[in-house]
Order: sequence, then structure tokens, then C-alpha cells
Amino acid sequence: MTDLSDPTWWRSAVVYQIYPRSFADSNADGIGDLPGITSRMGYLRELGVDAVWLSPFYPSALADGGYDVDDYRDVDPRLGTLADFDAMVEALHDNGIRVVVDIVPNHTSDRHAWFREALASPAGSAARQRYIFRDGRGPGGVLPPNDWESGFGGPAWERTPEGQWYFHHFAREQPDLNWDNPEVRADFRTTLRFWADRGVDGFRVDVAHGLVKDMSEPFDPWADVAQMQRGDGSHPLWDRDGVHEVYASWRAVFDEYDPPRFAVAEASVHPRRRARYASAEGLGQAFNFEMQEADWRVEDYRRVIDSGLADMRESGSSTTWLLGCHDTPRVATRYGLPVGPGEHAQQVARQWLLRDGAEPVLDRALGERRARAAALVLLALPGSTYVYQGDELGLHEVGDLPAAALQDPMASRSGGAEKGRDGCRVPLPWTAQGPSFGFGGNGAHLPQPAWFGRYAVQSQEADPSSTLALYRSALALRRRLARGEDLAWVEDEPQVLHFARSGGWHCVTAFGNGPVALPAGQVLLASAPLEDGRLPADATAWVRMG
Ligand code: GLC
Ligand code: CA
Repeated sequence: MTDLSDPTWWRSAVVYQIYPRSFADSNADGIGDLPGITSRMGYLRELGVDAVWLSPFYPSALADGGYDVDDYRDVDPRLGTLADFDAMVEALHDNGIRVVVDIVPNHTSDRHAWFREALASPAGSAARQRYIFRDGRGPGGVLPPNDWESGFGGPAWERTPEGQWYFHHFAREQPDLNWDNPEVRADFRTTLRFWADRGVDGFRVDVAHGLVKDMSEPFDPWADVAQMQRGDGSHPLWDRDGVHEVYASWRAVFDEYDPPRFAVAEASVHPRRRARYASAEGLGQAFNFEMQEADWRVEDYRRVIDSGLADMRESGSSTTWLLGCHDTPRVATRYGLPVGPGEHAQQVARQWLLRDGAEPVLDRALGERRARAAALVLLALPGSTYVYQGDELGLHEVGDLPAAALQDPMASRSGGAEKGRDGCRVPLPWTAQGPSFGFGGNGAHLPQPAWFGRYAVQSQEADPSSTLALYRSALALRRRLARGEDLAWVEDEPQVLHFARSGGWHCVTAFGNGPVALPAGQVLLASAPLEDGRLPADATAWVRMG
């Protein structure tokens, strides 16, 4: 049985990301919910994950998939109640699985009590000081305070009926908080304690490089501000040194608990600035998105792994590896699209989405094959691996969601430049048939395509060669094999990625034309059948030597 009191559990954890509205629907309203998660405890236990991270389940109008939070200390009534939350935590803990919740500190929703109060209060009032309100420019203040743009497209300022403007980096329904205000700081510490007291083991911190801003005038023009990563802390909106004071105060809260609560930063910062977010005085761990950006190329994998290992040395934390999340086209699809010289799979996948998945032609089998090979690489690396729900099924992005079904503000705000992130958020298929493939009794809030049935959990559980079976075997083996946080590169053929972990655990991946020879030893697991004992192209094997 898992020792839930181990304070270092997160260093090598496999964390499964649940997007609650799309995981399992217990009451047939088309929306996944917390009792749905509890009902799938057997699935999570069999998968063998160490923790789950839940994307926001808080009350929200869903202007940004729940990342627009109305109340940080409650559950959206459509997803359940606090009692359902407690029952879910208890069930997870009983199964040796820890719980990580998402904290969204950069912005609230426009329905949060604070924002309503701010709108009802005059310019300059204390209620407005919790956000970023400014007078407009030009006669009558009809122009926004500056020309800055929202990350989802369109202006970053919205005018209130009474005339002032407020700043929102994301959708207009997501006003940015003013982190210079001590009341804002104190309230988030209260929220952290609220969930930690309910038994939550850790927090995923949304847009952790935001929060603290320099909104003093004169403003720099957007042309100078558009580039988010500066690497020196001088950007007015991102990655300012002052944000680490906030995280030092959060660390003090985490350390009030035994074991101390864990946190991981979503910090899209210059690689040399990442270590600070991951330091033991701060949040403790930071996402490294380089693997998610990498193409299926041996040189990309080598570079990204070396960079992650360098992070570990610098921060003293363990690094994180991930192939996907709720913000990016699914990995099986990215790796199944043709990527020409000078192109990147991420871009190609976004273009493919804009053409409703019609072209270029997706090679589903190739994408799944490579995604399986990639999963074995990640699960053999030292550090922690995050698995996005559905990737353990080899699920593809849904490319042809009709425009009327799209929910992501990125689709509506980008003026047609992006189709958005709904294609990876379509509810999971649990059964090969049924009204919503077993997701719930009555439809799904994003329409599931007919081909989802082929990826159903039920079908994969019955098939020892399925991607689900591969994940289960890999997770079980990893528990037995992983010791220490070392990695040694092994010389091999140029198109082969080969490293060894202590205890004689070798991970070998053939990127180019296979088949290639494997080191002499016991093959523990392979992502594709070997050919006469040799590893075929686009496959990974774990081999025990000695
Ligand atoms: C993070 C989330 C993303 C959300 C954004 C704004 O990047 O992962 O889904 O849209 O923050 O909260
Ligand atoms: Ca429901």
C-alpha cells in the first residue's frame, strides 16, 4: 500500500490529469462531475497512477473551461457538492492516489463577488483596488488605457458601463487581480488552507508566471510587450521577480501541513528562469513544456531530456515530463501528421484543426504508434510524468467539431486564427457503444465522433496489445524498476535514443528506419512487437541488462 505520509512522493510521481467536465458523467446531464470521478476509482487504481490533478471544478460560467472561477472555495453545482468532493478525496486516498487541485490566481471570473462589488463601486474605491482598473485615453476616456492585446486575441481591456476600463490578459470574463493588494494575497492563502484542510495533497498553479505586474505609466507599446519571455524579469506582465515573494508565503502555508503540501507551477518562462519556480523555497516543481513542443525527432528528444535534467540539477527539484494537456492538440494526432522541414508538429496540428481535420491527411496508426513509443520514453525518465486523460487510450484530437459546438474563447476571440482547444476536451469513451460511449447516460457537452467507440476503455481492457494495456504495464514496471534520479546516455546508432537508469534498466527508441538491434538483455516491455528480436521503427523497448 502507498505510504501517503511520504513527503517526497511527488518527485517521481505519475500524475493523471482529469478534466472533470469530460471524464465521467454520473447524472446524465452531459457534463462530467465529481461523483463520476469517484465512480471510476477502479479504473484509476488499475491504471496505477500516483496522483490525479483536477482541472478546475469550481463554480464558473465556463467562459474559459472553468479557468474563470466564481468562487475558489466551492464546487460548481453542476459538478457536485463539497460533500462529493470529500467523498472523492477519501476514495482516492483509500486507493493510494493523491489529489492535486488547480489554483487560478492570476484572474477571477467576472461573476466573482469581488468583481461584482468592484463594478458596483466608484472609480478609486477599495473594491476596485483588487483588480486593475484605469481611466481610458482620449476625450471622454473612450480609448483603452494602452494598446495591449489579450492572449486569446482582441484588446486586453474592457470598458465598464460607468466608463473605466479593466485589464484582462485572457477572456473579458477573466479580470486580472491586483497582486499588490495585501487583501488579494491573504485571500489566496485562505483558499490554499481551505483545500489543504480538506485533505488535498497539492496544487497546480495556473499561469504562475503572471500575478505580479508593473502597471505604472507610461506603458510600453504592445510591440515591445507582445514577446512574453524576456529572461531578465523586466517584462511588465510576466515572470517578474516579485512573484516569488508570493510563492515564498505560499510555501509557508504548505509547510504548515504534514506532509507539506506539494505545488507545481505552470510557468511559461525562459528556461533559465524556470528553476526559481521549482525551488524548495517556492512552489517546489515547475512544468517543463519542452517535451510537449518537441517533434518526433531523435535530436529533439535528446535536447529536451538534457534540458530537463539540467533543470533538476539547478533547482534541486525533480523535473516534469508531459506529452499533452487540456491546452494542446493530442499527442497521437501531432505525431501522425506529416511535418515538413522547418515545420513543427504543434503548428501543423493547429493548421489541421483550422481545416477541420481534413488536411494534411492524418495517419492515425502512425500517430498512435509514436505516441506509445513516446510514453515509454517519458515513463523511463527520472522525475515526474503527467498524463492527460485519454492519452492512455491513444485517443486522437477531434478535428471536425462543428463551429457551433466550440466552447473555447480562443476560437471566438482569435478572429479565425485558431480553432481552439475543444478537440482534446471531448468526453472520454468508456464503452464501445451507448449514448455517449459510457461517458454518461445522455449525450456529452462536446459531441463525440463515431470513431471514439474504437478507443473505448472497455475494448482496450480486453486487448492485451492496446495502448491502455501498455500504460498499465509500464506504470506497474516503473514502480518496480525506478530507483534514484540518475540517467546515463548510451552510445547507439544515430537515429536511436538510448539511456540507462540504475539497476540495469535501459530504454531504447528507434526513431528512424528500423529494425535495430537491442542490447543483449531481457526485454521487459515494448511499444510494438519486435521483429526477430529487433526493435522496429517508431518503437521503444525497456530492456534489463545484467
Ligand atoms: C492556463 C490554463 C488554460 C487557461 C489559462 C487561463 O494556461 O491551462 O487552460 O485558459 O491558464 O486561465
Ligand atoms: Ca453530470
